[in-house]
Amino acid sequence: MNLNNVNFEISAMNKSQYPTNKRPEIVLAGKSNVGKSSFINAMLNRKSLARTSSAPGKTRQINFYNIDDRIYFVDLPGYGYSEMSKKEQEKVALAVNTYLKNRKSINLIILLVDIRHKPTQNDIQMINYIKKTDKRYIVLASKADKIAKTKVESYVKDIAISLDVDNDLVFPFSAETKEFTNCIWDVINESLCT
Ligand code: GTP
Ligand code: MG
Repeated sequence: MNLNNVNFEISAMNKSQYPTNKRPEIVLAGKSNVGKSSFINAMLNRKSLARTSSAPGKTRQINFYNIDDRIYFVDLPGYGYSEMSKKEQEKVALAVNTYLKNRKSINLIILLVDIRHKPTQNDIQMINYIKKTDKRYIVLASKADKIAKTKVESYVKDIAISLDVDNDLVFPFSAETKEFTNCIWDVINESLCT
């Protein structure tokens, strides 16, 4: 991947709107405002390809980003955004669950949780859902720039324990400093080979 050719391709709510080719998909899941869209921009070195906002609930649909015609980054709407009407929350949850359950092209699911906070009930529900899909997954402890460097490792460990996942599957991440992007590209590239 040389990242010379990255584009927003389509927003989808229904299966019929997903891309029809079978390119591997790298999926961003997590609570609203955790930094999923910022992750995409940081990894692709673009300022505002994916729309971000300090107000939660920015991403309301499933957004597919075409990376060099080789893979997609799939930006999911966040959960746990209480300002959204109940009806809309249900609609979004259904779209996300339908995608995660049925989409064969999913190559890797990346669940983001905020490094500063104990995972919520919604996070635990989501990781359990992800485990059940039998897809490959990792967890990113986002906004790692917000805590002291010396504390990052122990916070990452606590998150692994709370979510009951292997410590090796949890990585720190910062869209702000972009410090860990190379490591996550390694994980993504490796997932494409196996
Ligand atoms: P939804 O679209 O609502 O699901 O949110 P999202 O998960 O896409 O979050 P988004 O990327 O829009 O980021 C939310 C806010 O957190 C924005 O103000 C970002 O600038 C900020 N943010 C995201 N990642 C980081 C990070 O690594 N460090 C810091 N300091 N701020 C971050
Ligand atoms: Mg977003």
